[in-house]
Amino acid sequence: MRSIQSFLFVILGLMAMLGTVASHNYADALTKSILFFEGQRSGKLPQDQRMTWRKDSALNDGADIGVDLTGGYYDAGDNVKFTFPMAFTATVLAWSVLEFGDSMGPDQHHALNAIRWATDFLMKATNKPDTVYFQVGHGQEDHNCWQRPEDMDTPRTVFAATIEKPSSDVSAEIAAALAATSIVFKYSDQAYSATLLSRAKKVFEFGHKHRGRYSENYAKPPGAVCPFYCSGGIAEDDLAWGAMWLFKATNYDHYYWNSAVNSSKILNHNLHEFGWEGKNAGINVLVSTIVNKDGATNKSDTDPFIQNADKFVCALMPESPTKVVYYTPGGLLKLQGVNFKHASLTFLLVVYSRFLKEANKEIHCGHVVVKRNRLIEIAKGYVDYMLGNNPMNMSYMVGYGKKFPHKIHHRGASLPSMDKHPAKIPCANNHFFHHSDLNELTGAIVGGPFDNDSYVDDRNTVERSEPTTYMNAPFVGLLAYFNRPPPAYI
Ligand SMILES: *[C@@H]1O[C@H](CO)[C@@H](O)[C@H](O)[C@H]1NC(C)=O
Ligand SMILES: *[C@@H]1O[C@H](CO)[C@@H](O)[C@H](O)[C@H]1NC(C)=O
Ligand SMILES: *[C@@H]1O[C@H](CO)[C@@H](O)[C@H](O)[C@H]1NC(C)=O
Ligand SMILES: *[C@@H]1O[C@H](CO)[C@@H](O)[C@H](O)[C@H]1NC(C)=O
Repeated sequence: MRSIQSFLFVILGLMAMLGTVASHNYADALTKSILFFEGQRSGKLPQDQRMTWRKDSALNDGADIGVDLTGGYYDAGDNVKFTFPMAFTATVLAWSVLEFGDSMGPDQHHALNAIRWATDFLMKATNKPDTVYFQVGHGQEDHNCWQRPEDMDTPRTVFAATIEKPSSDVSAEIAAALAATSIVFKYSDQAYSATLLSRAKKVFEFGHKHRGRYSENYAKPPGAVCPFYCSGGIAEDDLAWGAMWLFKATNYDHYYWNSAVNSSKILNHNLHEFGWEGKNAGINVLVSTIVNKDGATNKSDTDPFIQNADKFVCALMPESPTKVVYYTPGGLLKLQGVNFKHASLTFLLVVYSRFLKEANKEIHCGHVVVKRNRLIEIAKGYVDYMLGNNPMNMSYMVGYGKKFPHKIHHRGASLPSMDKHPAKIPCANNHFFHHSDLNELTGAIVGGPFDNDSYVDDRNTVERSEPTTYMNAPFVGLLAYFNRPPPAYI
């Protein structure tokens, strides 16, 4: 009896070992992907801050114009607070929790904190009626300095959108973030949830009534706002996105549905876009989460969105005749810009795969039939590539796996911590720029490899070695999704 038992244990142990070799530790990667946001925090850090090499910073943001704009996130490896990508980050984090929060385990608590760190700031940035503070810090002057956020002395210029200089894009994205987050906190913090929703409505109206793109008014002189997160094209996609989240968050107030439909009318191109600068695919997949929900809207109304969501899928599938993305030789999905930015697209694939299951539906891309599992397979391939299944045999997440980047383009990570080096570090000519990271920005996902799958661990190749909040956010959702036993996702 005993020998049979120990034999079974050996077999089980071997299976477990093989299992860990064959697949990734999604739970560990998930924990780290969320921890990363603590390294991006601006303002007064809380008692429960886990990334302790970071300290309080930018405690006077907004003081020069008499408003409190402390808090929020530095968006990437610099120390500017760009409200537009920050709001998008919050929306995607909130959506990740709404869809996959139940497989986050104890990390769900940290994910909620990460969202709140953004939304608390977004509330401050929209506290004054008909005003949206869309940036703190001067783009070029900040980028010219290699300084820790804790002792930076670059200008903390505040930029505002007003009725005269409107911002339909940023306002609508903030509305989306606050609306999505209001759903996240609907039961756990009703007062906060109600406050967020009421502000979301006001900010949406501001963006809706006073049309314009924020960066139009700040394109000149170049260097302060543009060319960093300039909003090109149109703001109708942002407005449709904001309205659709409000439709969901208000438990289906048709004013927002009609507004979203009206804004969507002209969104027939670039159906595969989803990022801070383009929302089309996000809108269509978001609609899939309300199809057949009581009180939402009827099927014929949602059909056009679902058809467009199908087109989005067909734009991504390698075997599809209408594919618009391409794949690197190592298998990484690629569109334009930085590689791991497209996590947002694969996040949509897993969200949409749930609808396909519910609706018992498959997608026809010309003569090619795409089944639900295929969407999951593509998304899993993307996540696994990032975690180490790639020609470089390396993880692109700092602190995950044996081999990962050590010279990321990130001021805080590269410079010594305040604990080790309390004296001020000057703006220019500090030798730390050339050293390996002195602090581990755990969970940071860098821009990623070249299109030939190679990667050079080099701080100078900004687009490869810089992490950003809006790249990590969709990975949080993806990693949560894959952090469940295989039968649940295949
Ligand atoms: C409908 O959308 C157009 C832009 O596409 C906008 O100019 C108009 O104000 C919108 N109408 C309503 C009622 O929202
Ligand atoms: C439902 O569908 C019909 C057309 O089939 C349409 O006229 C109607 O406005 C739709 N929406 C709602 C909310 O009933
Ligand atoms: C990655 O691992 C494979 C298989 O072990 C090996 O053939 C290849 O040379 C490795 N590539 C690099 C860049 O280390
Ligand atoms: C990969 O692409 C980069 C950028 O174009 C280039 O510098 C590098 O030499 C290429 N590496 C290989 C192995 O072809």
